[in-house]
Amino acid sequence: MGKVGEVAVGEVGESVIEIRPAREDEYLAVGELVESAFRSLLGSDLSENYANELRDVAIRARSTDVFVALLGERIVGSVTYVGDPSSPFAEELEAGEVGVRMLAVDPAVQGSGVGRAMMEFCKLRAQADRARAIFLFSTPAMVAAHRLYRSMGFSEPSERTLTVGNGLCLLPFRLEL
Ligand SMILES: CC(C)(COP(=O)(O)OP(=O)(O)OC[C@H]1O[C@@H](n2cnc3c(N)ncnc32)[C@H](O)[C@@H]1OP(=O)(O)O)[C@@H](O)C(=O)NCCC(=O)NCCS
Repeated sequence: MGKVGEVAVGEVGESVIEIRPAREDEYLAVGELVESAFRSLLGSDLSENYANELRDVAIRARSTDVFVALLGERIVGSVTYVGDPSSPFAEELEAGEVGVRMLAVDPAVQGSGVGRAMMEFCKLRAQADRARAIFLFSTPAMVAAHRLYRSMGFSEPSERTLTVGNGLCLLPFRLEL
């Protein structure tokens, strides 16, 4: 990553990747991309409530930072960075932690390094914010994401595992900075 802050430029393979805040006129397309990434993994297990939440970029952009990743002009990924613990999108954050949510890469370009680039960007941003750690939840089906988090050094503090209303288990991942 070239630059820390609101915008970063780096490389994935032979391509240049840019990561920057999502613009308002992109919210619709970003929401659809995030939904399609989760739907391609979860299929009919993706509840309508959660699909609506994934699509609604405008709501989360009020209290979080929604970033997009671009290869050339094309938006290929998005991630939501939760630096404000009072945000309704802050899930079980402890003192000094920031959250990362709704990490998603267009299924057509998955496996080419975009997800890792966005997570490295979040790590740089969290360090710049002087956070102690990044904390996030994942679900058991998200095995690609788990490999990514483990390879970055995230630990899995099992005592913070949560079971939500529909019996879904939320697996905790934490990266000490
Ligand atoms: C998780 C996700 C964002 C990863 O994005 P990506 O661009 O495909 O990931 P990358 O190409 O940067 O790969 C990063 C690492 O993820 C893991 N990974 C990626 N694709 C994988 C696959 N198909 N199977 C297993 N592990 C995989 C690998 O560890 C990989 O590192 P490596 O290439 O050095 O082995 C993407 O798969 C996605 O959008 N999934 C659906 C939504 C989701 O699960 N979000 C996570 C919410 S907690």
